[in-house]
This record gives sequence, structure tokens and C-alpha cells, in this order.
Amino acid sequence: MKLFIKKPIQQLLAAAVEGEKTLKRTLGLGSLIALGIGAIIGAGIFVRTAAAAGEHAGPAVTISFIIAASGCALAGLCYAEFASMIPIAGSAYTYSYATMGELIAWIIGWDLVLEYALGAATVAIGWAQYFNEFLETFFGVHIPFALTHSPFEISKTTTGMYAGELGAHGIINLPAIFIILMLTLLLIRGTAESAAVNNVIVIIKVAIVLMIIGCGWSFINPANHTPYMIPENAGTVVTNSGTVNYADTFNHGWLGVLRGASVVFFAFIGFDAVSTAAQEAKNPQKDMPKGILISLVICTALYILFSHVLTGLAPFRDFLVQGKEASVTYAIKNFMPGYGWLAKLVTVAILAGFSSVILVMLLGQTRVFYTMSTDGLIPPVFSKLHPKYRTPYKSQWLFFVFVSLFAGFIPDSVVGDMVSIGTLFAFVLVCLGIFILRRTDPNITRPFKTPFYYIVCPLGALICLGMIASEGLENWLRLIGWLLLGFIVYFGYSIKNSHVRRGVTELPSDPPNPKFIE
Ligand code: ALA
Repeated sequence: MKLFIKKPIQQLLAAAVEGEKTLKRTLGLGSLIALGIGAIIGAGIFVRTAAAAGEHAGPAVTISFIIAASGCALAGLCYAEFASMIPIAGSAYTYSYATMGELIAWIIGWDLVLEYALGAATVAIGWAQYFNEFLETFFGVHIPFALTHSPFEISKTTTGMYAGELGAHGIINLPAIFIILMLTLLLIRGTAESAAVNNVIVIIKVAIVLMIIGCGWSFINPANHTPYMIPENAGTVVTNSGTVNYADTFNHGWLGVLRGASVVFFAFIGFDAVSTAAQEAKNPQKDMPKGILISLVICTALYILFSHVLTGLAPFRDFLVQGKEASVTYAIKNFMPGYGWLAKLVTVAILAGFSSVILVMLLGQTRVFYTMSTDGLIPPVFSKLHPKYRTPYKSQWLFFVFVSLFAGFIPDSVVGDMVSIGTLFAFVLVCLGIFILRRTDPNITRPFKTPFYYIVCPLGALICLGMIASEGLENWLRLIGWLLLGFIVYFGYSIKNSHVRRGVTELPSDPPNPKFIE
């Protein structure tokens, strides 16, 4: 049994030629960077930063960002080399199928479900927090705690909109399911965000981050930044989903900063979206790696400044209970007197910004599964196109159910950690894969080569592994469970139906609409 059978590159290229007919090469470096930033800035900065600071890193979450960004930049270089070897649009799944073989491609493709589907769930939960904040701010009403939280949460806050609901149990997160439903319907109709809309949303998101940095800077209270890391004796805090003990290994000091990095790593996910647009790029070989790295650098700078301000406004413990939800609006409302207008603006902008991230993730998920299905690795239902809209509507519905189960019934910290660990694991595979390929196949054409690969690849893998290590037993078991499930599907179904194994070479008739990832 050849577990590492490869998909012939000719087959991929033939599909690319088909794609050439429908896609124009219009994206320059600027648009690629905008695409990257559009996919990157989302719930990571506006929700997970506060969680990382409150629970693990304190004000030193700025250092967490540097660690997470280093892992991403190194993995990003490997990713760019990977993408440039196969001159077509695609995901890590597509590239690994042609270079590292079916089993690795399967693991990466299966892992991408954690990145895209659960990523969409995490952002939807963040969207729900800001949606309730929006209702409260503009209309003076809000959806009760029970209908905006998972069954694993119990209200512990005595301030803010849930003050009167102390002790209420969560049942279901309805707004999170609502936004997923709306975007699923849009995607079934074949509506993808156009580059123009994406550019507008990018400008709004960057502007909001800059405004918070600019307006908030003078409200920084140096006392909140001292000590910079959480001390071991910082005590305990009772939160909606349990008690946080700062004496725990990964809740203080440097190890807390490392654990914080695995949480805020979420904020960088999405930069690989740049490589998925390779086919529409004017000069993919040069611009793709630049697009990936420049968008990462810009976001890292924004994130560090932003988190410096956020943790300077409110004491880090606030982000565990009363300031846990819609944390940015909380900080502005409570610690920046006279800036009520900014709180309102931020809330609206975040709702729009998060929607675009969820849209891109849901779209990415179904397109990766579309490709895997046309390869025979998962059932044909995932590549069944709608007769009129030409979108993989059945797949879109199945993912609506899957994503909603997580968004509606699991706390964001758990879902967010699963996204991080799954994506980090995929990055480790990409880093190691590039290292191995340099040795085993030195002659493949590589329009972009990772510089100093013998340092970059192992170091990238090491930093990502460090973040995985800090996530703790529960998260490792969740990842292992997910991978085991993947193996059951692979050995039970995929291996028997794989087109490459069965020698099926015909191409799927037409790509789905809108075409995003292959
Ligand atoms: N990086 C994306 C976000 O933060 C996934 O929402």
C-alpha cells in the first residue's frame, strides 16, 4: 500500500489551465497585501488578545505576539516556497498532495477543517459578543445570557449588561448561529466578497486599530503594566467557565507568555489566503512571498501597539470576567472617558469586519473539501454543485450544521484553542516537509526558495511545537482525537476511493462559483 502516492503535477496544471480561462491576472502586490490583511485581522485581535492577557500573559501579551509572529513568518516562508512549486491556486492540501503524497495531504486537509470551520465558529462567537453589545448600546436591549452562551458557561459578572443575570446558565449561542446562517445563504447564492469590498473592509479594520492605538495611548495607566508579566502569586479568579489559577505553570511568567502566544496565534491565521490567489496574481512568484511577509509584518506591528494600549487601559484581570466579552468596547467605555463615540464606531466596524472573516473561512472550508471530494478522498456530496448557482450547496449546508454545533454550544476559548493547535500542527508539517523535500527532491523548480532553509525550517517547526506544547493535555487530546477520526475516515473510505489510486484522471467539469480555493 503506497501511503505516500502523489498526485501527478500534470493533472494539477491541467486544472490550472481550465482556471486560467475564467480568472484574470489582476492582483498586484498591493491587492495581495490587502487580501492578507483582510483575512488576518478579526476576532484574534478584538477578542482573543484580551483572553490571552487575562488568563496567561498579562501585559506581556505583546511578547506573545512577537513569538506567534515569528512562528508564522518562518512557516510563512516555507509556505511561500511550497506554493511557488505548484504554480496554481490552492491550499496546503493541494500542494502537499503533489509533493509529499496522499497521507500527508490528507492529514493537512483534515487539519484545515480545524483552521477554517472552527475558525469560522470562533469568529462567530466573537461576533455574537459584539452584536449583543451593539443591541445594548444602540437600542438599550440585549439577548439574555442563556441565549448567547454555551451550556458550559455560567454568568459570573456583576457589572455590564448581564449584571441582572448573575448565575444564569448558558443554553445556546443564537446570534453566532444566526450570522453563520446568513453567510451560508450568501455563499450558496454564490456571493463572494469582491476585491473592492475587501479593500473597504481592510481600510475600516486598520483604521479602527489605529484609532484605538492613537486615542487610547494617553489613557494608558502605567500601573496596569507593572509588573509586566503575571507573577506566580497573582491568586485566582472565578470566571464564566471555571476558576483561573495564576499559579498554574502556563498562567504566569515566561511560560504564560508562551501559552499566550498559542492563543493570539489565532490572530495571524489567514495569511495563507494570499497564496490561494496565486492564479489571479500578476506576478505570483515575486509577489506572493512578499504579500505574505508584508501583511504579517504590518499586522504584527499593529497588534503589538494595540495590545500595549489595551492592557494599559484595563487591569488584565478585568478581561477574565466583566471585560471578557466585547473586550475592546469594554475598555473604551470604562477607561477612556469622552470616547463613547469610538466605542460605538468600533462595535459596528467589528461586526462588519468579523463577517468578512467568517465569509472567507466558510468559503475556504467548502472549497478545500470540494477539491478533496473531486480527488475521491471524501464523498461526492461535498463537490455536488447547485444546478443554478453552481456552488457546493450541500457541502455548505453540512458545514453550516457542523460549524453551528461548535459556535452554538462550545465556549470560544475551547474552539479557539482547537483552531490554534490544528493550524500550528499543519505549519509544523509544512516546515518539516519543505526541509525534507529540499533533500529528497533538490531538482524541483522552486521560483521562490526559503532563505537559509536549514535554519528557517527547523526553527519554524520548533517555535510552532513550543506553542503546541504550551496548550496542555486537554488540547493535545482534542487534536489527537481529531486526527484519529481522520485516520478512520482515511483508511475506511478515502484509500478505497482515491482517484489517484484508482487511476481516474478526468477533471471535474467546472470549478464552483465563486472560485476561491481551487
Ligand atoms: N486571524 C483571523 C482572526 O483573527 C482568523 O479572526
